[in-house]
Amino acid sequence: MNKITHRFYIGSFFAIGIAATVYLLFNGYQYYSSPLEDRFFLSQHLSLKPSGTLGHGIGILGSLMMIIGVAIYIVRKRIRRFSNLGILKHWLEFHIFLCSLGPVFVLYHTAFKFGGIVAVSFWSMVAVVLSGVVGRFIYIQIPHSISGQELNMNDLNSMTSELDNKLRNETSLSSGIFREIESAFDPALYSRISLAAGIIHIVTEHFKMHSFSRKLKSDLKSAGLDKLHIKETLKTVKSKIIISRRIGLLRKMHNIFRYWHVFHLPFAIVMFVIMFIHVAVTIVFGYKWIF
Ligand code: HEM
Ligand code: HEM
Repeated sequence: MNKITHRFYIGSFFAIGIAATVYLLFNGYQYYSSPLEDRFFLSQHLSLKPSGTLGHGIGILGSLMMIIGVAIYIVRKRIRRFSNLGILKHWLEFHIFLCSLGPVFVLYHTAFKFGGIVAVSFWSMVAVVLSGVVGRFIYIQIPHSISGQELNMNDLNSMTSELDNKLRNETSLSSGIFREIESAFDPALYSRISLAAGIIHIVTEHFKMHSFSRKLKSDLKSAGLDKLHIKETLKTVKSKIIISRRIGLLRKMHNIFRYWHVFHLPFAIVMFVIMFIHVAVTIVFGYKWIF
């Protein structure tokens, strides 16, 4: 997948997600915002109640999306036979799409009333989604190759040397600026501080990197460099800073990510187990949707 196709891939996820969420909200706003005791008398009740044509349908669709989103990712990641099927990062993006929009559909399915034991499934789903957002943040801090394999310290060190060579040989940075980058964005800073301080540091470093880039850009401009050269230099400096941060955080992020899996997975299991019980109970009670 080239860059443009990938943008289209992600863009279509956003477009579908936003369009479906907004459509369901507009379509049912009056119903969902009415008190429970009044809903029965509204014309939309037959369609939007959890067992209604649309309400029930999106419950099924949302649940299927989550089942498929999890199954496809786990199969692609863990079964060797499928390891050559596309890039893991793209499958993770597909997982995130299906497992974000699926819960939105389930939310509309509940018609915003969360009673009985199935509420445990609902709140577990919310917990998985929220932990997913945190997990995504941790995941991008751990460097991966294009094929999705985690990079180790040796890979990162050799990437840093390549960037250093590029900065020395292909850009016109003075050795003073070079030293300034090395000391301001030193990976060792991260290994000396606690995790919480590390997270605050990532945020402050983000702003520091921007103001540093701005200053560097104006320095390079006044040195008379052409636009393309400046763009290339800034890109390489930014890559170096990001790699330095990732080297500094690698061990910490690995540990947190291990704990994160211990959190994300059990909620997913609780959600699915209660969901299956809920589905079995509704079928026993005769709810068969349009069939
Ligand atoms: C994680 C997935 C799901 C969650 C969290 C969920 C949650 C809920 C909730 C909160 C209600 C309303 C309970 C109440 O009236 O107080 C409900 C009702 C219902 N759900 Fe689901 N649901 C899920 C998936 C499904 C699926 C896949 C189906 C069908 C195959 C389904 C069928 C129904 C039906 C028929 C009702 C109406 C039951 C009644 O009115 O007595 N649900 N669901
Ligand atoms: C109901 C929704 C979701 C369910 C049931 C779910 C379930 C899972 C499962 C079972 C795994 C595999 C865990 C493993 O390999 O041990 C996983 C991985 C992951 N999920 Fe989700 N997930 C959901 C939503 C999300 C969302 C919304 C995000 C991000 C915004 C997300 C981000 C991730 C990440 C980053 C991984 C780890 C990938 C890796 O280690 O290779 N998930 N999810």
